[in-house]
Amino acid sequence: MNILLLGSGGREHALAWKLAQSPRCAKLFAAPGNPGIAEHAHLVSLDAKDHAAVAAFCAAEQIGLVVIGPEAPLVDGLADSLRAAGVSVFGPSKAAAQLEGSKAFTKELCARHNIPTGAFRRVRNKVEGLTALDSFTIPVVIKADGLAAGKGVTVAMTRGEAEAALHDIFSGRFGSAGAEAVIEEFLHGEEASFFAITDGHTIVPLGSAQDHKRVGDGDTGPNTGGMGAYSPARVLTPLLEGEAIERIIAPTVRAMTAEGMPYSGVLYAGLMLTTTGVQLIEYNARFGDPECQVLMLRLEDDLAELLLAAAECRLAALPAPRLSGETALTVVMAAEGYPGTPKADGTIKGIAAAEAHGAKVFHAGTALKGGQLVASGGRVLNVTASGSSVSEAQARAYAAVDALDFPDGFCRRDIGWREVDRERAEES
Ligand code: AMP
Ligand code: GLY
Repeated sequence: MNILLLGSGGREHALAWKLAQSPRCAKLFAAPGNPGIAEHAHLVSLDAKDHAAVAAFCAAEQIGLVVIGPEAPLVDGLADSLRAAGVSVFGPSKAAAQLEGSKAFTKELCARHNIPTGAFRRVRNKVEGLTALDSFTIPVVIKADGLAAGKGVTVAMTRGEAEAALHDIFSGRFGSAGAEAVIEEFLHGEEASFFAITDGHTIVPLGSAQDHKRVGDGDTGPNTGGMGAYSPARVLTPLLEGEAIERIIAPTVRAMTAEGMPYSGVLYAGLMLTTTGVQLIEYNARFGDPECQVLMLRLEDDLAELLLAAAECRLAALPAPRLSGETALTVVMAAEGYPGTPKADGTIKGIAAAEAHGAKVFHAGTALKGGQLVASGGRVLNVTASGSSVSEAQARAYAAVDALDFPDGFCRRDIGWREVDRERAEES
């Protein structure tokens, strides 16, 4: 089978690396891809917004499966257009991708189906928002309704910050993503992410992970797309994972199917582990980046087979995918300036030296310029390693980081710190 993978980040490099290992994969194409992905796939230039062009490529190259990496083409309905053209697609329809594309949609679905999540109000303008604020205590969370590249969420520590966030959203800072806003109760607890593959009927757990959103050590500084992750997140115990599936994931999948928008793809749940149980923070309609990198390192089975079974609605017939019992941990090397304006074109050397330490280095934002590998984005590399504990995986990942030669890059030095602290406490 020929496969087309859409996207160009570290998530897609990890997917390409794993898809290329599949005995089912004849020819792997990626659009637009990156230099790391090019080691496993033929790069093609296709515009994901041009649905007809993608469908024509699929017909010409006899593509048996399209894997859509990022959220924007999903929310834009690319999966629908390709399915209409007879192509098997891993990724939800436009209607189902509203679980990521509209925060109000998700909160209202949760309300209709009794799915545990924080209290909320949907507001359509600033005046409505300011009035609704009165019924919340501080801190409070203000979110632009639509896709805002991870920048539409404010955890407001004062009423003034909440008002400013509403002002930003309704003055057009996020364009149409800010046509509406959601005000949410602030949930207390530790966060964990959980991933499930589903075809709208069968739900297959694919493990948990914990991301590190802030740019600085000790979770300080501005938010980013994620500076590192590890999997599994042991705070999501088997008991809590069962609760998340039973009370959050399964009712969501059932509700989407019952309401005529069956969800097919990977459902990524951001969860808050509160003292009163697991609560949903938000859904994403795709793999997390960099969470996907650690999941792919742990996945022991054929990814192409799994994604195709989801696309063809026959997950029930597939044995559950096996994940290694080891911990995988990834450290994001970012370009100086990230998450503000990252320095472009910094030279990158030493990937082979880093991988000699047993790590896998995924490319997130790299380019080739005159034969030299350079940085071309905020998050540049994902240095990924595994170990029998988080501490061991962390030590291996940082040994590989230290073998890299990327003078314009930086990383957090404490990825996995919560779990490393817990492991140390258990030892002593
Ligand atoms: P994202 O939407 O992934 O950019 O990130 C939003 C982040 O804001 C989450 O990862 C949480 O840390 C935080 N957050 C969002 N909603 C809530 C909530 N209701 N209570 C507490 N924290 C939240
Ligand atoms: N790492 C967070 C995300 O992919 O949304």
